[in-house]
Amino acid sequence: MQPRPVVLDVDPGIDDALAILLALASPEIELRAVTVTGGNCPLAEGVRNGLDVLALGGGAHVPLAAGVALPIIRPPFTAPETHGATGLGYAKLPPSPAAPIAEHGVDRLINEIMATPGEVTLVAVAPLTNVALAIRKEPRIVQAVREVIVMGGAVRADGNTTPLAEFNVYVDPHAAHVVLHSGIPQLTIIPWDITINVRITQTHVDRLLALGGPIPAFIAEAVRFYLEFHEAHFGFAACSINDPAALALAFLPDLAQTTPIYMDVEINSETTMGKTVGDFLHLTQRPPNVRLVTAFDNERFVELFLERMEKLTRNS
Ligand code: BDR
Ligand code: CA
Repeated sequence: MQPRPVVLDVDPGIDDALAILLALASPEIELRAVTVTGGNCPLAEGVRNGLDVLALGGGAHVPLAAGVALPIIRPPFTAPETHGATGLGYAKLPPSPAAPIAEHGVDRLINEIMATPGEVTLVAVAPLTNVALAIRKEPRIVQAVREVIVMGGAVRADGNTTPLAEFNVYVDPHAAHVVLHSGIPQLTIIPWDITINVRITQTHVDRLLALGGPIPAFIAEAVRFYLEFHEAHFGFAACSINDPAALALAFLPDLAQTTPIYMDVEINSETTMGKTVGDFLHLTQRPPNVRLVTAFDNERFVELFLERMEKLTRNS
C-alpha cells in the first residue's frame, strides 16, 4: 500500500519532537511537510527544534515551514516549565544543516492539501493558529483535506494549563473556534483526558538507551526534563506523550474509540477561557462536528512507539 501523505503542525516541544520521530519511523505514512507555530516555545526556537529533530531522525529532506508566531487575539503563552528553556528539555542537538523553506507555514498547509485533494491527513498538535488561518485564507481545504487529527482540549477532565483548559486550546482558543466551526467533515480530536494516560517511564527510556546512539540519547535527555515536570505537577513517575498518540491515529485509527459529538470552545470568559465542551447528551441538538476520542489502547501504542524508536535507532 502507498504510504498515506501526512502534514504535521507542531510547536516543538518535547512530545512534538517525539511525534516527528514517530512520523519518520512509520512506513505507513509519508511525512510531506512540517509546519510550525509558536506555542510551547516561541516560533524561532520551535523552527530550530523542528529542523534539528528532523535531521536527528533522518528527515532533513522533509520541508519545514515557519508559520504564525502569535495567537490570533490572545497574547503569546509559552510553556518553559513543561518543555524547558529551549523547548527540548535537557537535550542538546547538533544544528541541522537544513533551513526552513521560504514558503510560509500557512501557505504550505494549503498547498499540500490542495495539491492532492482528498488525500492529505493533517495532524495538528499545537495551538491551532496555522490551521485556522489556513482555513480562512483558503476555505476549500475544509473539503479537500482527508482528515484532520487534533491533539487538544480537556473535555471531561481538568485542564493542564488552567483548571479547565488544555494548553493547545488555551493558547489560541479563537483558532480552535475557527477549526471546530469550519465544517471539516473528518475532524478527530484526541483530548488531554485521553493523552494524560498515554505514558512512558524511565524503564521505557532505559530500554531505548540500551541500544546506544544519538536517538536514544536525545529521547533520554528530553524526557528526563519531562519526567521531572510530570512528577512535580501531576505526581506520577511517568510522562504523557500526547502528540505521538495523535500522530499514530493517522495510520492506526483502531487504537482509539471515538464518538461523534458536538464540541465547542469558550472564547469569552477569562475564567473559563479555552474550555472545550462536549455535548454528550445532545442538549444543544446541534449535529456532531468532531469525532472525539473516548478511549485509547495505551499499552499497544506505547509498545509500538518503543519498537519504532528502536527501529529508527538501528537504521540511523
Ligand atoms: C499539548 O500541549 C503541549 O504542551 C504539548 O506539546 C501537547 O501538544 C498537551 O496539552
Ligand atoms: Ca505540541
